[in-house]
Amino acid sequence: MSDKVGTKLTVFLTGGTGFVGGHVTRRLAEHGHQLRALVRNPAAASSLTELGAELFEGDVTRDGELDKAIAGCDVVVHLVGIIRERPPGQTFENVHTRGTQRLVEAAQRADAQKFIQMSALGAKTDGTAYQRTKSEAEEIVRRSGIAYVILRPSVIVGPDGEFMRLLVRLVRGLPVIPVIGDGRYRLQPVDVTDLAEAFAQAVGRSDLKDVSFDIGGPHKLTYNRLLEIICEELGLRRRLIHVSARLVRPLVDLASNWRLPTPVSPDELTMMFEESIIPGEGNVLREVFGLEPTPFRSVLQRLAG
Ligand SMILES: NC(=O)c1ccc[n+]([C@@H]2O[C@H](COP(=O)([O-])OP(=O)(O)OC[C@H]3O[C@@H](n4cnc5c(N)ncnc54)[C@H](OP(=O)(O)O)[C@@H]3O)[C@@H](O)[C@H]2O)c1
Repeated sequence: MSDKVGTKLTVFLTGGTGFVGGHVTRRLAEHGHQLRALVRNPAAASSLTELGAELFEGDVTRDGELDKAIAGCDVVVHLVGIIRERPPGQTFENVHTRGTQRLVEAAQRADAQKFIQMSALGAKTDGTAYQRTKSEAEEIVRRSGIAYVILRPSVIVGPDGEFMRLLVRLVRGLPVIPVIGDGRYRLQPVDVTDLAEAFAQAVGRSDLKDVSFDIGGPHKLTYNRLLEIICEELGLRRRLIHVSARLVRPLVDLASNWRLPTPVSPDELTMMFEESIIPGEGNVLREVFGLEPTPFRSVLQRLAG
């Protein structure tokens, strides 16, 4: 493994104020890199300045805000992504596809040496709008002519992440836990700190070039099992009530058509039933990044701690 982790690089990063972005920024700072961050609201980005990052105000859906920020950077780390649209500006097309195109063009003009792209497991041309636009963004990066690393994680978990917090809130707050469908659909939760280390290595290692990695944690867990583990760790007994997806789907579709708030969007429902797992027994966190992937239960124990 050619490890250039000791080399100090200038890294331009988007999405630094998000859940994953906070961990990636911290890890990059620990690796000694000089950081520049694109943020929509500098006043809400003090955690990044505390890590020594220079802030540039901007939005990937707008033209002409990236060149000054990227000039002189060695590596671009593109983490921006959305799971729900907020039209007219925040659409999947605008943020994932056009936003990535804009950033890649700015990186080309700045002669950046490497582009690290955050994608998602399940990104594909014939998927939901989220999956399709994530796949389009991957293609833009692959065709850019810049050396790239694309990371495609399953669900990302951490004590400060929305997914884990929501499940813990449900288990703590409800005597019975509603589960859409049979709950046997599987996920491969990956610890955000493991993923952040993978990003830092993708930035610093010259042997990682023009590659895409599917990233998952050590275990493939059904949604039912995730909830059971949370109950075990919190010392709570809860019954799971399975609600037929055939009942939920029309309600979610209707609410979405009327633009009413729902806990899951129609696309999220579709993606939930598609399994978010990596076939086979291998794990790139171990094999490529030299990490021992953290089990979901251990991440949960950090939350309890
Ligand atoms: N969380 C998961 O389980 C998961 C799984 C697979 C892949 N991913 C991918 O991982 C990435 C990060 O996810 P996350 O969970 O950390 O999301 P998050 O907490 O919602 O963070 C999203 C980040 O993107 C920024 N952003 C959104 N729209 C922007 C725009 N138009 N211009 C500039 N910045 C913008 C946000 O900035 P503000 O602070 O200004 O809102 C925030 O920093 C996304 O690409 C997501 O698709 C996530």
